[in-house]
Amino acid sequence: MSSEDYEAGEFEAGEFLTAGPLDGDRDLDASLRPSDLGSFIGQPRVREQLELVLHAARARGRTPDHILLSGPPGLGKTSLAMIIAAEMGAAIRITSGPALERAGDLAAMLSNLVDGDVLFIDEIHRIARPAEEMLYLAMEDFRVDVVVGKGPGATSIPLDVAPFTLVGATTRSGALTGPLRDRFGFTAHMEFYETGELVRVIKRSATILGIAIDDDAASEVAGRSRGTPRIANRLLRRVRDYAEVRGDGRVDLAAARAALAVYDVDELGLDRLDRAVLGALVRGFGGGPVGVSTLAVAVGEEPATVEEVCEPFLVRAGMIARTPRGRLATASAWHHLGLTPPEGAIDRVHGVRAREDAPGTLFD
Ligand SMILES: Nc1ncnc2c1ncn2[C@@H]1O[C@H](COP(=O)(O)OP(=O)(O)OP(=O)(O)O)[C@@H](O)[C@H]1O
Ligand SMILES: [Mg+2]
Repeated sequence: MSSEDYEAGEFEAGEFLTAGPLDGDRDLDASLRPSDLGSFIGQPRVREQLELVLHAARARGRTPDHILLSGPPGLGKTSLAMIIAAEMGAAIRITSGPALERAGDLAAMLSNLVDGDVLFIDEIHRIARPAEEMLYLAMEDFRVDVVVGKGPGATSIPLDVAPFTLVGATTRSGALTGPLRDRFGFTAHMEFYETGELVRVIKRSATILGIAIDDDAASEVAGRSRGTPRIANRLLRRVRDYAEVRGDGRVDLAAARAALAVYDVDELGLDRLDRAVLGALVRGFGGGPVGVSTLAVAVGEEPATVEEVCEPFLVRAGMIARTPRGRLATASAWHHLGLTPPEGAIDRVHGVRAREDAPGTLFD
């Protein structure tokens, strides 16, 4: 499995804190999904921008511009796409980049749209080239050219498409081609959530699921959720299990801490695999720099798992820096493992240029 064809939820190891959906999450994802912008917690900037876009479209009686939602897994892209449709009183059709292998698949989808529909394409960066090219015209002119026949006898038949709003979601906006990106009227960049926001997510989910959880326990779970609502909801359920089996069902701070210890989630939200990666980097390679595949071999994992599951969070937590020569442990990594960093260990990630597809990358 290369990072190119990584699919959220395919991991075998270290998957407990995967931000992508695991099998058990899917139904709950649906029941815990906020249904309107008002109940969507956090992301104040994105929410305000979206409110303006949708409001203006409603006032003009037009379909809103095409919208691109970009950000790491589990931050609420699918939820927002559904909210956009709900706020516009429109139906939503859902597909994904990998499902649109042939242009014909997309043509069928497009020709079935009715006026005002929202077409949601998840993982839009994985759309096949011919479908992507068809999409350009559909987005711009609400038209597709369907090619019938092959070779010199082929003819292209223009078909009208009802005015629709394309909502694309991507975890890798850097992998989108320029022409596709340019055709979106608005890109929402989703950020990781603050602990306070995750506390609200957890309390909301607890209410929906009928879980009694104390404030300090909710904060404890939130602080270990890697800034990701999907992980917060998953940890909440594990903590509830613990409280039901070992206690009276109420989640208090002691139960939350004990449960998180059972599941090997430490104070910063690192799990066993994260700590193994840090340990290998620090103890095995003196803090690096070392290539990601070497690190993966050292912990007995697929490079894609290390790169897509562990690394983004370790980078964000300021423990690993990506450099052109490989991965480097920061002083915080040494401290987190209870070790003294060597002279000259970088202390924070300086000079980081914001690059979504490679956050925390150091350029020298
Ligand atoms: N702002 C939010 N407020 C409340 N709950 C949220 C919020 N964002 C996400 N969630 C919860 O997290 C779960 C995952 O969100 P969602 O499926 O929308 O993420 P995603 O960005 O589409 O992830 P992926 O990239 O894996 O498709 C939802 O079911 C919902 O319960
Ligand atoms: Mg999604």
